[in-house]
Amino acid sequence: AGPTRTLSNGAEIPLLGLGVWQVRDGRECEQAVTWALEKGYRLIDTAQAYRNETSVGRAIASSGIPREEIFLTTKFYPGGKDARVEAEKSLARLGTEYLDLYLIHWPQGGPTWAWPGMEAAVEAGLTKAIGISNFSASELQELSKVSQIQPAVNQIQFSPFEYRRGLVDACEDANVLAQAYSPLGTGRHLGDPVVARIASATDRTPAQVLIRWALQKRLSVIPKSTHHDRIDQNFDVLDFELDDESMAALDALDTTNQTADALSRNQKWWS
Ligand code: A2P
Repeated sequence: AGPTRTLSNGAEIPLLGLGVWQVRDGRECEQAVTWALEKGYRLIDTAQAYRNETSVGRAIASSGIPREEIFLTTKFYPGGKDARVEAEKSLARLGTEYLDLYLIHWPQGGPTWAWPGMEAAVEAGLTKAIGISNFSASELQELSKVSQIQPAVNQIQFSPFEYRRGLVDACEDANVLAQAYSPLGTGRHLGDPVVARIASATDRTPAQVLIRWALQKRLSVIPKSTHHDRIDQNFDVLDFELDDESMAALDALDTTNQTADALSRNQKWWS
């Protein structure tokens, strides 16, 4: 299943997983998750907003892999009223008894209002860990001040181009695991010449270089693909290492000016 890290609730999370944002419900999603589990992925990341939880659940059930060996994440859609009630609906769609991780998908309406419902979901045994997504460092700080249960994860778009170093540091300081979605920039970063040069020097693909960069930053990372060969390829990143020079060249691609709150200025797509 690859490398793991221990979350603040004591659970182990695989660092490398499959994200299913923009994967169509039905055969496309079921196949992608099935292929990923066959390959060895043990972290699957979905969301209420993706509308494919049913297919994720079907693929997990038919894999024959014991539920406790899979780390399953879904996300509360902030349009919903009560995060605990919505967690129950997600569980019904996923056909499972519990989530490993339940995230607030984005901080619509402010960073704190949904949190009591998230905590209630933990207390009701619906999820083992709770966390956040698309929160800036200051939103994380605001939430930490009022939370009984601290967020275990903050899932954000991270890549060498969206490094958000200050936010990564703020997460580390708060014992919050930073998790990278769209590590390939939804595919946009695969043609970058620096990435291509490092890929050819290491005899890997650009996707593998970008995923490996995130792992070496000790981020959890969830590349998305619906192609069998790419799902396999994206997992074959555990048997090589980027050297310091390559890491530095990738770090230099950062366009986020490295401050913790760059995110909150350039990524308010939900408001
Ligand atoms: P597809 O799903 O058709 O394979 P991100 O994880 O940053 O959101 O990037 C996902 C995008 O990158 C999707 O368009 C996906 O296409 C594509 N992609 C994922 N893995 C690879 C890969 N190994 N090589 C090329 N493109 C990839």
